[in-house]
Amino acid sequence: MVYVLLCWLGLLVFLEIVHSYAAADEMVGLSLFDGTNDCYFHTGKRGHHKFWGTRMFKYGDLDVLHFLLSNLNWWVEEYHVDGFHFHSLSSMLYTHNGFSSFTGGMDEYCNQYVDKEALLYLILANEVLHALHPNVITIAEDATLYPGLCDPTSQGGLGFDYFANLSASEMWLALLENTPDHEWCMSKIVSTLVGDRQNTDKMLLYAENHNQSISGGRSFAEILIGSSLGKSSISQESLLRGCLLHKMIRLITFTIGGHAYLNFMGNEFGHPKRVEFPMSSNNFSFSLANRRWDLLEDDVHYQLFSFDKDMMDLDKNGRILSRGHANIHHVNNTTMVISYLRGPNLFVFNFHPVNSYERYIIGVEEAGEYQVTLNTDEKKYGGRGLLGHDQNIQRTISRRADGMRFCLEVPLPSRSAQVYKLTRILRA
Ligand SMILES: *[C@@H]1O[C@H](CO)[C@@H](O)[C@H](O)[C@H]1NC(C)=O
Ligand SMILES: *[C@@H]1O[C@H](CO)[C@@H](O)[C@H](O)[C@H]1NC(C)=O
Ligand SMILES: *[C@@H]1O[C@H](CO)[C@@H](O)[C@H](O)[C@H]1NC(C)=O
Ligand SMILES: *[C@@H]1O[C@H](CO)[C@@H](O)[C@H](O)[C@H]1NC(C)=O
Ligand SMILES: *[C@@H]1O[C@H](CO)[C@@H](O)[C@H](O)[C@H]1NC(C)=O
Repeated sequence: MVYVLLCWLGLLVFLEIVHSYAAADEMVGLSLFDGTNDCYFHTGKRGHHKFWGTRMFKYGDLDVLHFLLSNLNWWVEEYHVDGFHFHSLSSMLYTHNGFSSFTGGMDEYCNQYVDKEALLYLILANEVLHALHPNVITIAEDATLYPGLCDPTSQGGLGFDYFANLSASEMWLALLENTPDHEWCMSKIVSTLVGDRQNTDKMLLYAENHNQSISGGRSFAEILIGSSLGKSSISQESLLRGCLLHKMIRLITFTIGGHAYLNFMGNEFGHPKRVEFPMSSNNFSFSLANRRWDLLEDDVHYQLFSFDKDMMDLDKNGRILSRGHANIHHVNNTTMVISYLRGPNLFVFNFHPVNSYERYIIGVEEAGEYQVTLNTDEKKYGGRGLLGHDQNIQRTISRRADGMRFCLEVPLPSRSAQVYKLTRILRA
């Protein structure tokens, strides 16, 4: 699977690499390759993933190491991939395949269930890759957050450049599937996206995860605006709600948290269907084994795409991700407003499904003029266009709010978000 990650370096292509297990199917995989059961894999129970039945590699075996390490190198040399997203490390790091409850105790990471050979393989993989290809970026996908995932190997770490925190995507999915819009808890959204702020320099967030894109799940677009593309099948109201939430979720996930953001190809324009390869359960159909770029000719998808593009430009032109932590100074469950400052940018979100605020008070540290640089509600992004041109520039008032010296009274349409930039500093 190819991912696209945008950080301040530009556009990079990543490969989802599955070295954590292999197909059990002997017709397509290495299982029983030479007729024996232990050629590349463990024998007995250990040789099969506890829940998925897939084959588990013997990472201590020299031939297995040669095979896996040369596979990494091959993708870089032949296809020039920019990096790897290491799939499901918890499957390989533990003999319980990650299916154990983790409460945060250190002993859970260094007991008899840890596969030390797998751990050493990952260290070796990072060392070899970074030595041969210094620009290659490695990302760990490990729900158990093994200690030292992103510490340098020279300091006893595993040597990954980033780790993916799946909590954000899991939260959004749970909200969209199970929680009525007016019950979304703002403080929970903020705490999940920001985490405990330890290691966030290395944290990669994404709004939507691989389950939704490639493992049989539903993308946000499919949940929000449905799978059939005909707008006739869904009311204008639902379509508008879907479009507005899709943009807000992406914008807050992109800007509030870590220093890296990842997108599954197609999600940026609301691709309605997952990728599914031909297999027996779908009668070997190719109908979902694609990304439908032609959808960009459709209004809705084009509008979502335009928004995503401008959101990326926000970072390209104004460096969002490479700046320090966001200063989250306003979180209100009742009004459903979240606001934070990052560099010269002020982000204001109103998640309330119906309440709009004409003059909502948000604190800022610098007195001056703030100009809207991105607004999810603009018509060109499929919004309602509720803010007038004359409302694009807001001037601070000398009054304390949110623990800051000045404040703005911003117009805040329901279910919308605006990014303001301090464009003119005023001295008192
Ligand atoms: C990842 O997300 C979880 C859930 O919000 C959070 O508890 C954890 O602190 C995050 N991890 C890091 C390292 O920030
Ligand atoms: C993916 O889906 C499986 C089962 O459907 C679930 O157990 C797992 O927690 C999901 N993972 C993520 C990251 O959502
Ligand atoms: C596959 O084809 C069979 C026979 O044509 C049909 O009965 C079945 O519903 C199809 N299954 C799917 C998933 O399309
Ligand atoms: C949230 O907003 C409501 C309505 O304006 C206000 O009464 C309440 O004090 C605010 N809560 C916090 C924690 O600021
Ligand atoms: C928001 O509501 C949740 C419960 O729904 C509560 O735990 C949290 O403290 C509230 N936050 C604020 C700022 O009122």
